[in-house]
Amino acid sequence: MTKTAEDTACPEAPRRYRTATELVHGGTLRSSFNETSEALFMTQGFVYPSAEAAEARFKGEDPGFIYSRFSNPTTAMFEARMAALEGAEEARAVASGMAAVTSALLCFLKAGDHVVAPRAMFGSCVWVIETLLPRLGIEATLIDGRDLAAWRAAVRPQTRAFFFETPTNPTLEVIDIAGVVAIAKESGITVIVDNVFATPLWQSPLTLGADVVVYSATKHIDGQGRCLGGVILSSKQWIADNLHNFLRQTGPCISPFNAWVLLKALETFQLRVERQSANAARLADHLAGRPGLARVVYCGRPDHPQAALVARQMKGGSSLIAIEVEGGKAAAFAFCNALRLIRISNNLGDAKSLITHPQTTTHQSLPAEARAALGIGDGLLRLSVGLEDVEDLIEDVDAGLAAVAALAAG
Ligand SMILES: Cc1ncc(COP(=O)(O)O)c(C=O)c1O
Repeated sequence: MTKTAEDTACPEAPRRYRTATELVHGGTLRSSFNETSEALFMTQGFVYPSAEAAEARFKGEDPGFIYSRFSNPTTAMFEARMAALEGAEEARAVASGMAAVTSALLCFLKAGDHVVAPRAMFGSCVWVIETLLPRLGIEATLIDGRDLAAWRAAVRPQTRAFFFETPTNPTLEVIDIAGVVAIAKESGITVIVDNVFATPLWQSPLTLGADVVVYSATKHIDGQGRCLGGVILSSKQWIADNLHNFLRQTGPCISPFNAWVLLKALETFQLRVERQSANAARLADHLAGRPGLARVVYCGRPDHPQAALVARQMKGGSSLIAIEVEGGKAAAFAFCNALRLIRISNNLGDAKSLITHPQTTTHQSLPAEARAALGIGDGLLRLSVGLEDVEDLIEDVDAGLAAVAALAAG
């Protein structure tokens, strides 16, 4: 292999193809064997033909690979394909979604800086922002992310970053990306968006002005429950100025094996997410208004509390549904335990439909008042819709509703 990621990465290619094509071909680096399927380079490093060549590589005069803590051909293919999918200049892959979130923040923040983020966030992101950053002298203000006035009011002279996910986990609240970006731009604040729930197919934060996008690739990108991974996407400049050296020196790198799994998963990403989203839309319509359910929230439905904003910034409703079962925890548990096909698990974006009770799992570490303020009640369930035949899913949720009705009847 003589090429480098820089030689073939899609953003550099003379021609860019449409998303479906980039997902199959983008970023491919072929070795001298000209393999059809992308090779897995399971190696910590690389040998050099001479001491002079090693020196040139380290000086950056020869752009080849050096060490898999910061560059590897398989990882480079995954990164280039992700960049093509997102429409970003560049991507960096890391070990997990949380490695992506933490690295995107720590790579440029320093003691004395200030960060603003919504209260409604994935629990580990709340811990990083509310507990870890202050330990390092970086203050954080948590707000209601739906309220643009709250973003503006939280800005201080020291504010360096706005961080948020949209739609939020698990209540599917939506944050106005362009609105938050406009406030950030007034003060030179970096906007980082966790785009996990929307996926790159349905929402493009960079197009709406965000500076950085992060993913848990563990979710829809793998979509088959096999491995963890994370991705950070931004401009070449931001990555060169902030992220590259941070990742190189601190080492939250992804295994080439996991990068290969994720690279191959991207080939079917669009097909999977389109089908999951179609199934979710159908299931949400089936569930809405059914006896035993106090509310059904789905980003693709006109009764979503922020439907106009969803229509402005999302191209699809994605694969997550939030349902509030009447009768609290006992009824929510009865619903889950009656399911035969949809499995109880806290992952999302998987080919298999999965359901979780956030109050007792993903959000159990939050104080009860904080959960209540976020709308995470005793009866709330988060349903991640998979690739099964939707008629089978409908029969399964009907069994769940029957169990709720039986419980209510005593
Ligand atoms: C919105 C969001 N961000 C980040 C993460 C963390 O991803 P990972 O589990 O790959 O570290 C998750 C995981 O559920 C998530 O839902």
